[in-house]
Amino acid sequence: MKRRKIAENVYWMGAIDWDRRLFDSLIPLPDGTSYNAYLIEGNEKTALLDTVDPSMKDELMAQLQTVKNVDYVIAHHAEQDHSGSIPAVLACFPQAKVITSSKGKGMLVDLLKVQPSSIMAVEDGDVISLGGKTLEFAYTPWVHWPETMVTYLREDRILFSCDFFGSHLATTDLFVADRARVYEAAKRYYAEIMMPFRKIIQKNLEKVKAYQIDHIAPSHGPIYDDPAFIIDAYKDWVSDVPKNIALIPYISMHGSTERMVNYLVGALAERGVTVCQFDLSVTDLGKLAIALVDAATIIIGTPTVHVGAHPGIFYAAYLTNILRPKLRYASIIGSYGWSSKAIEQISSLIPNLKVEVLDPVLSRGDPGKEIFEKLDELAAAVSEKHMKLNSH
Ligand code: FEO
Repeated sequence: MKRRKIAENVYWMGAIDWDRRLFDSLIPLPDGTSYNAYLIEGNEKTALLDTVDPSMKDELMAQLQTVKNVDYVIAHHAEQDHSGSIPAVLACFPQAKVITSSKGKGMLVDLLKVQPSSIMAVEDGDVISLGGKTLEFAYTPWVHWPETMVTYLREDRILFSCDFFGSHLATTDLFVADRARVYEAAKRYYAEIMMPFRKIIQKNLEKVKAYQIDHIAPSHGPIYDDPAFIIDAYKDWVSDVPKNIALIPYISMHGSTERMVNYLVGALAERGVTVCQFDLSVTDLGKLAIALVDAATIIIGTPTVHVGAHPGIFYAAYLTNILRPKLRYASIIGSYGWSSKAIEQISSLIPNLKVEVLDPVLSRGDPGKEIFEKLDELAAAVSEKHMKLNSH
């Protein structure tokens, strides 16, 4: 694909990765992704903002064949899907200087073996002029590595945000066209990558509010021509108050735990709680992550394998713990044959969750009337807590 014009002398470059299905060998990408680089041509100098994943560097290099010179390569983020083709760009334009944050400099040297003499570190608020195009750099740490920064192009009022506000979405739409689709992809991106840094992102959002922004150009997914769309979505996602939603991720082996889950889902729904139920043996963990953005309560359902929780539960509980969602309440339900250490095991896996634990319900064998009554009590407790979510 050729470079595409965004504004006068400002272009999208990069590559669309239609078929990538996993990021970091961990994160599902049902809709593929893109690696967006951008080119800004001033009267005197030219800057390339970020590069592409090394697997697609030939696409970028072909686009750069139409460019006379690159004076600066702005590296907003040292992760390889954006920085990985910097060595190839420098091989083609050896006089170019790589501009990055002070933390980014060391990371580019360590990860990509870029020569320190080719790197110019900028501080928060530094400005450079390309001649009629003025770039202002702003540190926005932890979106989602410590070195991350953004660039504001003053004349065109474009914020180049790299991963911040990005979405894993392969599309030929240069600008957001299908809002619902982009919202889902951006929320998935936030959930899987940004959510652990929710508190810092609150500050970064305040910081970018200072700019008059007409467009936000991220390094994954389409460009936002209505910045309020994604900024308001982020404000909602990073807010401190969860919503009236309970998640029930579970696994069942012989049906006992599943019967308990199904009963609890009904009992919660009857009491006005929105429930998201996930059978972890088949679910896309990205869907669970998305639901964790807003949920107030998680209730984990597990059968017993060798007196402990099912191994699939360990994976999901560990993942939930590192994503640090704003959950307020947690509980455990499940079944066992002769003994279970599931409660102790799962509790030890979620130290990052600052939750109040509601009484767990474990059934010896198939659940009967007494167990269903306890599940009703648990549902009533969750409902009561959710009524007071906004008063904390
Ligand atoms: Fe898209 Fe953190 O790299």
